[in-house]
Amino acid sequence: MKVSIIGSGNVATVMGRLIKQKNHEVVQVMSRNIQHASVLGNELGCNYCNFSGLADVSADIFLIAVSDYAIMDCLPQLQLQDKMVLHTAGSVSKDVLKVKSASYGVLYPLQSLRREMIALPEIPFLVDANTAEATQFVLSFAKDLSPKVEIAGDEERLKLHVAAVIVSNFTNHLYAIAESYCIEEKVDFDILKPLIEETALRIKNISPATVQTGPAVRKDIHTLDKHLRLLVNHPKLRTTYLRLTDSIMNP
Ligand SMILES: NC(=O)c1ccc[n+]([C@@H]2O[C@H](COP(=O)([O-])OP(=O)(O)OC[C@H]3O[C@@H](n4cnc5c(N)ncnc54)[C@H](OP(=O)(O)O)[C@@H]3O)[C@@H](O)[C@H]2O)c1
Repeated sequence: MKVSIIGSGNVATVMGRLIKQKNHEVVQVMSRNIQHASVLGNELGCNYCNFSGLADVSADIFLIAVSDYAIMDCLPQLQLQDKMVLHTAGSVSKDVLKVKSASYGVLYPLQSLRREMIALPEIPFLVDANTAEATQFVLSFAKDLSPKVEIAGDEERLKLHVAAVIVSNFTNHLYAIAESYCIEEKVDFDILKPLIEETALRIKNISPATVQTGPAVRKDIHTLDKHLRLLVNHPKLRTTYLRLTDSIMNP
């Protein structure tokens, strides 16, 4: 498959690498900033341009990997000759693309992607398209990229995006606030890393609800009280601690 990538950020970069690794071809990178387009185009060994350049219509797929709010903004600048157009967003309807092509859909990577990643992680994909034929086309392409692919419409994808934010963005935020608490209190955050790994790995084959541990699930009021007293100098963290404790105690 020949793919033209629109955008040059995290998803554009990781998807470009994956597409090449799976023996498909990236024919072009188009991005609003020519400098950014050139960095990715050079890495992927393909042509690049900004939005005033000509889209390479030898592409079978145009993969739009720009910020959610920018997907609609950049469409008027692209001349894609009715080729398959896909976006990569969890929370944007596929139908925003209908103005651009008769074949359109979504190739949503359900993974946290950063261009600094050295190894490519396992990436499940949620796919969707506007016709049965187009859906089969996207499904077959996605299956070349990953063993984990599911068809999901706008509503299901949006629901999974909410869950993804909770399990990934929220947990990472908790690591970040725990790290700054440790720094302020002069204790070693690094020693918590085996615990972080164990907690994540434990739920591979078991429901997280069945393996909850800690003072909140034990309703250990004395320990909770000690923690809350210690957190008086960290009011924001104390509020988060209280909210999560309440959520664990009253699921
Ligand atoms: N990162 C993830 O983990 C992840 C996972 C799944 C899905 N997604 C989705 O993938 C899409 C891209 O996310 P990302 O993480 O790659 O974002 P990103 O790293 O912030 O890159 C955003 C890209 O969008 C371009 N852009 C921003 N505003 C624009 C505008 N007004 N007009 C044209 N281009 C514009 C940026 O161009 P400049 O270089 O010029 O700033 C850049 O190329 C989003 O829809 C996101 O929801 C992300």
